[in-house]
Amino acid sequence: MLAELVRKNRSYRRFYQDVPVKLETLRELVDLGRLSASAMNLQPLKYVLSCEPEKNALIFATLGWAAYLKDWEGPEEGERPSAYIVILCDTQINQSPGCDHGIAAQSILLGAAEKGLGGCMIATVNRKELSRVLNLEPRYQIVLVIALGKPKENVVIDNVGPDGSIKYWHDAGETHHVPKRALDDVIIG
Ligand SMILES: Cc1cc2nc3c(=O)[nH]c(=O)nc-3n(C[C@H](O)[C@H](O)[C@H](O)COP(=O)(O)O)c2cc1C
Repeated sequence: MLAELVRKNRSYRRFYQDVPVKLETLRELVDLGRLSASAMNLQPLKYVLSCEPEKNALIFATLGWAAYLKDWEGPEEGERPSAYIVILCDTQINQSPGCDHGIAAQSILLGAAEKGLGGCMIATVNRKELSRVLNLEPRYQIVLVIALGKPKENVVIDNVGPDGSIKYWHDAGETHHVPKRALDDVIIG
């Protein structure tokens, strides 16, 4: 059921790094992005796939993780993503991706959730460095990175509490809590 999949599709940042994600799986996921809505149907998004440890390590080094978790610098070796999909905008097709990449990323992550995988959209990217290590032509602008793997953390949705904080947090049992605003607070008319 879609509603169940959407609930299951949380941002995961710790993975069983030794569980590989096949290149064919990444191709199937990108196909969901390819088939997603695109403004004016221009389809400016292009993708770089990675599921090899060496390439993964190069990508990992350019990413910023969980800004609200001040005491956590990102996943340790052994808990890092086993694959990535780097979403690019081909500026020869369109100067800006608009919101196409968000739509494509959600399709990709829902597909991943359906396959028992999980991931995280990452916009905190050292784009200059990632372009360099991926040897990208200047026409390709990095818009978003999707980290993927077999999730190793428990993530739960909470209601935003009386303090109004939307900051996600880790409890002592290492469960990751994500406060979401109540339905009646987001429907304003
Ligand atoms: C456009 C976008 C950019 C994001 N960038 C990052 C990021 O740079 N680093 C990170 O750890 N999480 C990032 N996230 C994940 C969000 O922190 C996450 O979606 C949010 O905490 C809500 O959790 P949920 O996805 O489980 O609902 C990003 C999410 C979106 C939609």
